[in-house]
Amino acid sequence: MSRLIVISNRVAAPKPDGEGGAQGGLAVALSAALREYRGLWFGWSGNRIDEFTGKIDFQRHDGVTSATIDLEEQDVEEYYNGYANRTLWPLFHYRIDLAEYVRSFGAGYERVNERFADTVTPLIDPDDLVWIHDYHLIPLGAQLRQRGLRNRMGFFLHIPWPPARLLTSLPAHEHLVLSLLAYDVIGFHTKEWLESFQNYVERELGGHCEPDGTIHVGERSVHAAAYPIGIDYKEFREAAESEAAQEAFERLRKSADGRGTIIGVDRLDYSKGLEERFLGYRRFLEDHEDWQGEVFLLQIAPPSRGEVHTYEKIRESLDELSGRINGEFAAVDWVPIRYVNQGYGREDLAGFYRASQIALVTPLRDGMNLVAKEYVAAQDPEDPGVLILSRFAGAALQLTDALLVNPYSKEEISDAIKQALDMPREERIRRWRSMNEVVKQEDVVWWRRNFVAALQGEATQDERAAG
Ligand code: F6P
Repeated sequence: MSRLIVISNRVAAPKPDGEGGAQGGLAVALSAALREYRGLWFGWSGNRIDEFTGKIDFQRHDGVTSATIDLEEQDVEEYYNGYANRTLWPLFHYRIDLAEYVRSFGAGYERVNERFADTVTPLIDPDDLVWIHDYHLIPLGAQLRQRGLRNRMGFFLHIPWPPARLLTSLPAHEHLVLSLLAYDVIGFHTKEWLESFQNYVERELGGHCEPDGTIHVGERSVHAAAYPIGIDYKEFREAAESEAAQEAFERLRKSADGRGTIIGVDRLDYSKGLEERFLGYRRFLEDHEDWQGEVFLLQIAPPSRGEVHTYEKIRESLDELSGRINGEFAAVDWVPIRYVNQGYGREDLAGFYRASQIALVTPLRDGMNLVAKEYVAAQDPEDPGVLILSRFAGAALQLTDALLVNPYSKEEISDAIKQALDMPREERIRRWRSMNEVVKQEDVVWWRRNFVAALQGEATQDERAAG
């Protein structure tokens, strides 16, 4: 059997006990795949050094081998903080107003992809399957081909793919997209991102897309399809049943003191629509005075990418906005928003989700959004909460029984909160059952099996039906 080589910017392979905290769902799924196929997980260690050496640090824990390299300060600045998070991230989330086009970022991005290619090439055997993840490493497949690799190679994008008209604002956009043709399989979360990609290929590259997912550009044919990522349902249900989750549930219920809890859990990122969410909630408090003092919003938002200016700015704006709303509406015994800049482990989150009557998951644009799926999985089947979900999250295409809202509209957010609070138990159960079925069936194991099958050259059931 072929080995699997997973390559991503960050490596979330298991760590020795007590280090690095709990693994996320994706990390658990990829670790399981690596145990099944052997192989290794390669990427950046997260450490910075004065001069790049290419030295690889190998570690093996729980049957998974990780191989990491350190990067130079300038690499991190130009590749990670620069091209990945100041150019591609905003552009791919439809925020060309925030995208920065700086030549040195592009050069740093190419350089680090070359460094990845130089160091990982000797670790890859001729019949290994290579699976590369996310926007940090789009050109890596082409770099590996230039070094003579003929392996089956796949790329999965964890964020949206933007419409062609936005993408063409990126200098050297063709070069970037053409480099994707080095892969055998290209995966997106949803049909929407896939269609934007196909549209770009036809408009800008003169390519041709077949209904079975084959894309032809010149001599090259690749397979592009939607593979919606899921959560590790079984593992998350277990987390939700754990003692720690039960304690978290009781802690939140006790502190709620009979009030309804609306929960939001997001990385502190402008794509998550947190300002718009706070304003929508504020609108709800204004529209429905009788609910003041009866509900509160618990927004958990651990800071991320703090070296990037736009992230510093969003943090400042949210500090200011939450303070303003609290000052405006709070009473001596009630605060409308509990704004927490701290991350929590899966078991705590599962308990908090179950204790909350509503989840507000309202990103302005999101590749998938797994918080929405985790909220569903954590619910009590006899008394489930209501999911309010942005129609611009990839998850909205699967969780059609959520209350779908336009996250830019304060009125829609306000109305949805009211509808959720008034929703009869039978309707909550009906909606939850249908969403839970999807979350359970289309879990992360299903996702990675489908992708790896495509990488091995096998058509998935959906593709056979479409073909
Ligand atoms: O969802 C996109 C993504 O880049 C993931 O790959 C990553 O785990 C997450 O966002 C957090 O981003 P970062 O690694 O920059 O902290």
